[in-house]
Amino acid sequence: MAALRSMAAAMAAVALVGRVQATEVPLPPCLDPFRPFVYSGCFQDTGSPQILPYRSPVSSDDMTVEKCVAECKGNGYRYAGLVYYGVCYCGQTVNGPAVTEDQCSFPCHGNSTEKCGGDNIFSVYQDPTFLPVEDVTVEDYSSLGCWTDDSSLGRALTYRQNQVDGATLTTEKCLQACRDGGFPFAGTEYSGECYCGVVIGNDTYSAPAEDCNMPCNGNNAQTCGGRSRLNLYVANELQSLEPCGYEPPVSSSTPPVTSTTATSTTSQVVSTTTTSSACVSTTVVPPECEYKCGKWCASGLPDWSDDKVCKTSWSNCALQVSSCFKQAGWPDALNCFDFGDWCGSLSRYCDSKPLGGCRKSDFKSRNPPKNPATSKTLTVTTTCAPSTTAKATTTTATTTKPATSTTKAPVPTPTNVCIQPSNAFYGYGPGKPVGGIDMPVVTCNDLAVDWPGYPFKQYNDVDTRRCKKYPRNGCTSACADACKEQYEDCVDVYAEGCKSRPRTWKRGGYFDFANSSPVERRTFGWTDSWGGAVGKCKAQYDDCLRVNRGVTGAGKCPKFGGW
Ligand SMILES: *[C@@H]1O[C@H](CO)[C@@H](O)[C@H](O)[C@H]1NC(C)=O
Ligand SMILES: *[C@@H]1O[C@H](CO)[C@@H](O)[C@H](O)[C@H]1NC(C)=O
Repeated sequence: MAALRSMAAAMAAVALVGRVQATEVPLPPCLDPFRPFVYSGCFQDTGSPQILPYRSPVSSDDMTVEKCVAECKGNGYRYAGLVYYGVCYCGQTVNGPAVTEDQCSFPCHGNSTEKCGGDNIFSVYQDPTFLPVEDVTVEDYSSLGCWTDDSSLGRALTYRQNQVDGATLTTEKCLQACRDGGFPFAGTEYSGECYCGVVIGNDTYSAPAEDCNMPCNGNNAQTCGGRSRLNLYVANELQSLEPCGYEPPVSSSTPPVTSTTATSTTSQVVSTTTTSSACVSTTVVPPECEYKCGKWCASGLPDWSDDKVCKTSWSNCALQVSSCFKQAGWPDALNCFDFGDWCGSLSRYCDSKPLGGCRKSDFKSRNPPKNPATSKTLTVTTTCAPSTTAKATTTTATTTKPATSTTKAPVPTPTNVCIQPSNAFYGYGPGKPVGGIDMPVVTCNDLAVDWPGYPFKQYNDVDTRRCKKYPRNGCTSACADACKEQYEDCVDVYAEGCKSRPRTWKRGGYFDFANSSPVERRTFGWTDSWGGAVGKCKAQYDDCLRVNRGVTGAGKCPKFGGW
């Protein structure tokens, strides 16, 4: 399975990168223990582009698979390839077709029981600690600011992307080229140059932002570096989750998962009435927008009439909070804090066992949701497809399509399998994430059809069918995704809010609530600068990735509906 997957990844990566120029200062091989590379197969080098661009300076005279793999690990590459008895290459993608296994027949100089490719044929190995490139998009790159380049010790980023037209260069085009090449680092320079890399080269330093002052040739609203200055970007998702020197955590702890009982969900019925002259279809759309924040709309909570189902409804509510921060848009996302509080009121309402029974209508009259929308009936009249009968009589066909029986499990308890990191210096920890924005919850999958292969799910969309699902061994990457989502929400909402908060006390030495904007009122009390906030978000993200590397989800979600 692992071999198959890496094979697929290698194949998918084939032919993505165009011509690149390499100038690289080699790093030493990795001498620490690391997770073994997985054999990906036998691949042919067609020469253009080169199958793997980085050639290790280590002599082929006593090369072994172990030595070559350590070279590539130490230099941060995803793939290692051996050719012609032991010449060692590394790369982020494998740019050549797979060939039959028997073509990798040359023994390695350093160990004749191992295979070192053939003539222009490479034995390729893959580091299994990278996420698949397909999971990463241009949006995953974040700006690192302005950096120096082109010192006497070499380039900051090794691979110049000559296939990207310099005359029309935009930031996106460069990021796309680097993403397609599987490179975690991307940089634009001198209005029209695009570079990618797996590491930042020696002698590269952060530079003042104003040094990057040259507009991109393809979009003068964007900055594409300056003279010997790079606008640098990174997609952490394209770096190894366990780089050389990584120490696995000694133990992992996850919060206990409590259980809730099952509830059934009802589905809408769509009926279509067809006549020979006009077609009328009536669709009853359930009240989807029970609570609205900007572009985001909560999916209606399941109704309830007893305490247990009330709690289930609360779970459903809590699992939607993250999607609000993700989708509401600025500044409406600030209202997602209210939505989170609303879910909290629901939890307390369920616990309070109100007199007269615990009912949704009762809860909503006590805690009216913001900007609710009611269920609506859509009646659409269209011309029918031409009837084949010339008769004047109309035929009426009524089809009632029952909703497909997608078995939905009870809503899982919103207890996160992933760990909110703590940091005493920055002051965040469980229950007090940076800016009050929690990670999306990773817990059991609520769809029966997906359950067997994918017991886990990251709840970051109101439509849980659109949430990303994960196999049993996929909790680490699920948590990495959740960390990333939290980071993005942190930057988009908290840091943005810090930018918009009242800069100083207003005249008279006090904050004038009455004459402030809603955004200022809401962000009053946030004390970080924008830069400080981003730094905090980033620190939390790095800590988050680190503490969640050991999270396996073992013992969690043991059976469908068993939370
Ligand atoms: C040669 O490679 C084989 C297979 O990987 C390995 O078992 C063996 O220990 C290696 N021998 C030496 C001397 O490294
Ligand atoms: C690059 O940096 C490493 C680590 O500091 C150092 O060992 C190496 O000599 C440097 N390479 C060059 C070419 O200066």
